[in-house]
Amino acid sequence: MTLLPIEMTIVNMEKSKLVLICRLIAENGQSVAARLAEKSGISRQAASAWLSRLKKDGIISSVGVGRGTLYFILDTVRKNASYPIRGLSEDNVWRELCAPVVQDLPKNVSGIWHHGITEMVNNAIDHSGSDVVEVSIKRNAIYTECTVSDMGEGIFLKIQRAMNLYDTREAILELAKGKFTTDPANHSGEGIFFSSKMFDNFIIRSDALSFIHLGNDHPDVLLTREAAAKGTQVTMRLDNDSSRTSKEVFDKFALPEEFSFAKTIVPVRLAQHEGETLVSRSQAKRLTRRFERFQTVIVDFTSVGEIGQAFADEVFRVFANAHPTIKMVPIKMTPSVKAMIRRVQHPT
Ligand SMILES: Nc1ncnc2c1ncn2[C@@H]1O[C@H](COP(=O)(O)OP(=O)(O)O)[C@@H](O)[C@H]1O
Ligand SMILES: [Mg+2]
Repeated sequence: MTLLPIEMTIVNMEKSKLVLICRLIAENGQSVAARLAEKSGISRQAASAWLSRLKKDGIISSVGVGRGTLYFILDTVRKNASYPIRGLSEDNVWRELCAPVVQDLPKNVSGIWHHGITEMVNNAIDHSGSDVVEVSIKRNAIYTECTVSDMGEGIFLKIQRAMNLYDTREAILELAKGKFTTDPANHSGEGIFFSSKMFDNFIIRSDALSFIHLGNDHPDVLLTREAAAKGTQVTMRLDNDSSRTSKEVFDKFALPEEFSFAKTIVPVRLAQHEGETLVSRSQAKRLTRRFERFQTVIVDFTSVGEIGQAFADEVFRVFANAHPTIKMVPIKMTPSVKAMIRRVQHPT
C-alpha cells in the first residue's frame, strides 16, 4: 500500500509543531492533550484542536475517549516487496522500492538510506544463500524504518561456521569490531560496521540472537530469544530530520590525514556473555582477535563493572607488548577497571 507522503497531506501546520506532537506521542500515547498543552503553553482545548487536525490529516490516530484516549502515529507510507535473488541487483531494489519513499528528505538522510539499504540487500544477495529477499519500508512524521529479510543460513551461524567459533555470540563481537568478512576476495567487511553507526536504530535478528544498536550514545546490546528464526532480518530506523551524515561516520573511524578504515571502537561488553565476569586469558584473546587489522583500537568498557587480573594482563601487557604498533585506548572505565589496567601496565 502506498499512501501520500506527509508533506503533501499537511496543509496548515508548521513542521516544528507537528514534530513536537508526534514526539510526545512516540514517548507515550497517553495524556497527550494535557502534555501538549503544558509543553506549548496553550489551553487543553487548543491542544485537542491540534490533535483533531492531525487525525483528520491522517498523521495520527487514537482509540478510546476522554482522559483514556490513546494516541499513535500513523505510517504515511508503507511499501514492501519480495525479490528472487537470482540476477537481482541491490541498486534496482533501491531505485524501485526505497528511493521514492525518502527522496524528498534532506540529502544527508536519503544518502544514509541509500548506503544502508544497498549494503544490506547486497549482503542478502552475496552471503545469505537464500532464494529470496524481502524488503519493507515505512515512514511516519518522525522517522523512516526499513527491514531487509532473507531465508538463508543466518548471519551469526554463517560467521560461527566460517571462524569455527565456540559460541554464536562471538559472531556479534567480530561484526562489532569491523573489517570482518567471510569472503575477503570480493568484500572488505565494512558494510555492517558503518551502516550500524549511521542509523538511530540498527537491529540484526538471526537464529536465537538479536544484536541491537540504539544510537551511538547507548551501549550495544545482545539479546537471546527463546525461538530460533531462520535467515537474517536487519531493521534500520532513522529520524527524517537527522543531522548525521555518512561522511562523518566514515571520518570517525579514519585516522587524521588518512581515508582508510584504520580505527575501531570495540564494546568490551560484547565479549562478556550473560552471567560471566571477564577474568580469563581466553576471554582476553577473544577480545583482541583481529585487533592487528587496525592501527588504533578504542576499547570501550561501557557496562563492564570489573575485570580480572589475568584478563587485563593478557590484553594490556601481553598483547600490547606483542603488538607495539597498535595503539589501544581504554575508555569509559569504572575506577576498578582503571586500577586493574594500571596495575598490569605498571607492576610494582
Ligand atoms: N544476510 C546475511 N546472511 C548470512 N551472512 C551474512 C549476511 N549478511 C552479512 N553476512 C555475514 O557477515 C559478514 C559481514 O558483512 P558486511 O559487514 O556487510 O561485510 P562484507 O559484505 O564486506 O563481507 C559477511 O562477510 C557475511 O559472512
Ligand atoms: Mg556487505
